[in-house]
Amino acid sequence: MTQAVTQAPTAALECRDLAKTYYSTDPPTEVVGGIDLDVRQGEFLAVMGASGSGKSTLLYNLSGMDRPTGGRVLLEGRDLTSLDDREMSRVRLTRVGLVFQQAYFLRTLNVRDNILLPALKAASGKRQAAEAAARVDALMERFGIAHVGRHGITQVSGGQLQRASICRALVCEPSVLFADEPTGALNSSMTKEVMDALTDVHSGGATIVMVTHDPACAARADRVVFLRDGRIVDSREFGTWSGEEAGRREDDLITWLRKLGF
Ligand SMILES: Nc1ncnc2c1ncn2[C@@H]1O[C@H](COP(=O)(O)OP(=O)(O)OP(=O)(O)O)[C@@H](O)[C@H]1O
Ligand SMILES: [Mg+2]
Repeated sequence: MTQAVTQAPTAALECRDLAKTYYSTDPPTEVVGGIDLDVRQGEFLAVMGASGSGKSTLLYNLSGMDRPTGGRVLLEGRDLTSLDDREMSRVRLTRVGLVFQQAYFLRTLNVRDNILLPALKAASGKRQAAEAAARVDALMERFGIAHVGRHGITQVSGGQLQRASICRALVCEPSVLFADEPTGALNSSMTKEVMDALTDVHSGGATIVMVTHDPACAARADRVVFLRDGRIVDSREFGTWSGEEAGRREDDLITWLRKLGF
């Protein structure tokens, strides 16, 4: 009988002793200090914490949008801190997906062209451009916005616009999708739309790191970490989401957050 070989699952994202200090202030402000974190392939991680606790700063430094002042970040095993600016912008364009509270779309382009734009920038040659366009159409179909592709960005709802942001973030098939308060500007029905889309992305095997203030959103994640003064002070492991236990998970999370003073 052959024995099964179990391999340690590779982390999609790792950081070691990650630190960010702003030296523009006197005295310097240490916003993130000494964070160690592994995000598994296919894991959905939520980051919570009070306003000013360093959540966005952590996300920017993990995603290559900003450079840490200490420690290392490994994306798919590749040390981001060793890359020059050109290599870093290539990583941002092709290996990382970003979703923010606002879509940051161009008003002069329709919804579909806004989604397509970064993928066209990353494509070399007509064939890759055509492949990117086909992926855009498939994603818009999947997230229920194909019918508003030709609309201007002011002619769609906030929920549709955020689903478009998710499409744009996924076009280049990134290794990690980062989202900073993706539902922060939405009402509750649009929040559900967007969280259903992210849950669907996660079910498809994607790795997600999402900052949120909303326990109902964080309850969708496999794991929640809590930040205080730029450090992870506690974490909660849930495992795979199933809609039926939504209420229990949210209650559990609220109790935990209360104990942490949130
Ligand atoms: N460029 C900067 N220079 C100095 N301090 C900064 C700078 N950017 C952010 N900070 C400070 O870093 C701290 C953490 O900011 P960050 O935006 O990461 O917090 P956050 O947890 O995302 O907050 P929120 O929930 O309000 O979005 C804040 O105190 C902020 O004032
Ligand atoms: Mg923030």
